Amino acid sequence: MDAQQTAPNVVWQLPQVEPEQRRTLLRQSPITLWMTGLSGSGKSTLAFSLEKSLIESGHACFVLDGDNVRHGLNRDLGFSPEARTENIRRIAEVARLMNAAGLIVITSFISPYRDDREMAREIIGDEAFREVYISTSLEQCEERDPKGLYLKARSGLIKEFTGISAPYEPPFNASLSLDTSLYSVDLCMERMQALINPFLHSGSSQAR
Ligand SMILES: Nc1ncnc2c1ncn2[C@@H]1O[C@H](COP(=O)(O)OP(=O)(O)O)[C@@H](O)[C@H]1O
Ligand SMILES: [Mg+2]
Repeated sequence: MDAQQTAPNVVWQLPQVEPEQRRTLLRQSPITLWMTGLSGSGKSTLAFSLEKSLIESGHACFVLDGDNVRHGLNRDLGFSPEARTENIRRIAEVARLMNAAGLIVITSFISPYRDDREMAREIIGDEAFREVYISTSLEQCEERDPKGLYLKARSGLIKEFTGISAPYEPPFNASLSLDTSLYSVDLCMERMQALINPFLHSGSSQAR
């Protein structure tokens, strides 16, 4: 069956809980921070640090991280352009469900294609979707090479590696751009926290 289409005879069921009830329960409105950038740019480091900080300040939050999702839900997908698109589509649908459950979602995926990120914005909805571009340069990412992947990609051991043998399309209009070779982890977190703050209800404990 085509993953883009809903099967016939499938009928949407109406829940009895209103989104407002969840917002009141959790003292926050749902938001998805969609982080995009090269491998090694700092997405996972920042996503998990921000998640910890939000949880510690009493906010329900969850990170969807590239490698982790590929261990389970998307373990059947490779790195061809089509597989990357399907990877993003599924993640966006999961983010939408988590937002519907009231959670703050932080995604950390390379998500190299503009069209795929636009698809994610459409699935999640403009009001909740914020694109965060981790703009660290290829040279810096390659120098860091925290997982040794650039070395492997340069020697041809990894095919279709973003930045080396597969394209990366930077966002035109990200809500926030952060070059982690210029800004510390703490400063990057502060900037991302500022995007989230309007979604935290007054009277609730604010992070940092
Ligand atoms: N300001 C910063 N923000 C995030 N990561 C940083 C920063 N400065 C240095 N780093 C380092 O860069 C690397 C980024 O790796 P990672 O977070 O796994 O990237 P990605 O998830 O984008 O592939 C880590 O080793 C991290 O310690
Ligand atoms: Mg990562």
